[in-house]
Amino acid sequence: MTDKEELARQLECIKVAAKIVSERSEKAGHALTYHVTTFGCQMNARDSEKLAGVLEAAGFLYEEDELSADLVLYNTCTVRDNANQKFFGHLGSLGAVKKNRPDMIIGVCGCLSQEKSAREKILTSYSFVDLVFGTHNVFDLPRLLVAVLTREVTKGKGHIVTEIWEDTDKVVEDIPVKRNYKFKSGVNIMFGCNNFCSYCIVPYVRGRERSRTSDDIIQEIQKLAADGVKEVMLLGQNVNSYGRGLDEEISFAKLLQKVEKIDGIERIRFMTSHPKDLSDELIEVMAGSDKICRHIHLPLQSGSSRILASMNRHYTKEQYIELALKIRERIPDIAITTDIIIGYPTEDESDIADTIDVIEKVSFDGAFTFIYSKRTGTPAASMEGQVPEEKVKVFFDRVLAKVQETSVKRAGLIEGKTMDVLVEDINRQDPALVTGRLSNNLNVHFPGDASLIGQIVPVKLKECKGFYYLGEKN
Ligand code: SAH
Ligand code: SF4
Ligand code: F3S
Repeated sequence: MTDKEELARQLECIKVAAKIVSERSEKAGHALTYHVTTFGCQMNARDSEKLAGVLEAAGFLYEEDELSADLVLYNTCTVRDNANQKFFGHLGSLGAVKKNRPDMIIGVCGCLSQEKSAREKILTSYSFVDLVFGTHNVFDLPRLLVAVLTREVTKGKGHIVTEIWEDTDKVVEDIPVKRNYKFKSGVNIMFGCNNFCSYCIVPYVRGRERSRTSDDIIQEIQKLAADGVKEVMLLGQNVNSYGRGLDEEISFAKLLQKVEKIDGIERIRFMTSHPKDLSDELIEVMAGSDKICRHIHLPLQSGSSRILASMNRHYTKEQYIELALKIRERIPDIAITTDIIIGYPTEDESDIADTIDVIEKVSFDGAFTFIYSKRTGTPAASMEGQVPEEKVKVFFDRVLAKVQETSVKRAGLIEGKTMDVLVEDINRQDPALVTGRLSNNLNVHFPGDASLIGQIVPVKLKECKGFYYLGEKN
C-alpha cells in the first residue's frame, strides 16, 4: 500500500469509528470523552497531538481529568526507569477506576510499548488494557480504534488489540492533528536514531533514522503558518544529520534557510543537536538569521573524554569545548543548554571534575541533569563498574550546583534590556501576569491579559529571578 492509499484507508476508518462513537454516545446519554496522557519528550508531545486529532475526528470530546474519561490513551516514555514507573503508577490507578466502569477504553502506545518486556508485563498483568500499539504505527490509530470498538469483549487474556511494528519506512502525512497551542507547533523533520549511544534505549524503540523530504516539511509549515502558527520547533533526535538518505541534496542548515522564507513564521527552534554533527554551515546560518532563535540545546552527557568514548558519543572533552566556544564567539547572545548524565558505569571523581570543568568553561545557560538509568538491552547495562547510589548522589549534587551557578550568572546578563517575548499563557500562580519566552528560551512573567497570548511583544526585563525574569511591557 502506498502512503497515499494508507491515508485514504485511515480516513475511512475515522468515519466508521465516528459512527460507532455517535451511536454509543446516544445510548450512554452523553458525549464520549477522551484523555491522552503524555510522558517523555517533544516527539511524544507531537505524536499525542496526532492521537488527539484522530480521537476528536472520531467524535470523542476532550476531558481534562484522566480518571473520568471514557477513553484514556497513555503515550509512554522509557528513556529512564522513573518514566516507566510513573506510567505503571497511572495505569494501576486507572485499572481500579475501570473496575466500576467496565466500558472504559484504555490504550497504551509510545516508546515503552516497543519494549518487549514492558509490553509483556502489560499483556499479562494489566489485562484490563484494551489497546497496545507502538511508535511506528501512530498513524494506524483510526484502524486500531475501529478494531477496539467492534471487537467482541471476552474478559481476560487475549482480548487486547495489539499491534507493534519493529521498524517502518512509512511516513503517513495529513492525519488530523489537534494542536496544543494555536501559535506554536512542533514539526517532525526526521524520525528514529542511528547513534546508539551506549546508555540509550531510544534507537531500539524509535527505529532507524529517516528524514522527511524538505517539500513535505515546508508544506506542513506553510499550512501551520496559514493557520496562525508563529513559532515552529523542528524535531529530531539528531537534527544535525537531517537529510542523510534522502534523494535530494540537503543539509539541516539548508532546510532552516527554506523554513526561514515562509511568511508568517517568526521564530524557528530545533531539537536536538548532536555535537558530533554540528556544522560550521549551521552556525553561519544561525548567526545571519533573524528568525532562528538564540538558543541551542547541545547535550554534553559527560565532560570526561574517557566516559564519552565509552558512551559512543564521537567527541572529546576538548572538541566539545571548542565547538561551544566557537558558537558563543560567532553568536554572543545565544543560550547554550545541555543534558548531563551522572553515574554512568565506572564514572569516578576525575570524570566528574572534567564535567565540572566543561560546565565552567562553556558556562551553560541551563542543563538537565539525569541520574544514569540502566536500560536493559543497551551496551552500558551489562558494563562492569555500575556506580553505587550514594556516590551518584554526591556527584549529582556537585554537578547540579555548578550548572545552577553558571545558568544564574548567564541569565543575569540581560537584566534591564528590552527584548521580544512570545506570550504563551496566563501565569499559573498569578492571573494578573502572563508568561512568555525570550528567543533564548528564558521565561518572562509580566502584567498582561489573555489578549496577548500568541503575540510577540517587547518587554523590559526588570528583575532576574535566577532562571526567569519579571518584566514589564514596553
Ligand atoms: N537525542 C537526544 C537525546 C534524547 S534522550 C540527544 O542525543 O541529545 C534525552 C536525554 O536523556 C539524553 O540527552 C540523555 O542525557 C538522557 N538519557 C538518555 N538515556 C539515559 C539513561 N539511560 N539514563 C539517564 N539519562 C539518559
Ligand atoms: Fe539516544 Fe544518543 Fe540517539 Fe540521542 S543520539 S537519542 S542519546 S542514542
Ligand atoms: Fe522517551 Fe521515547 Fe522521547 S523513550 S524521551 S518518549 S523518544
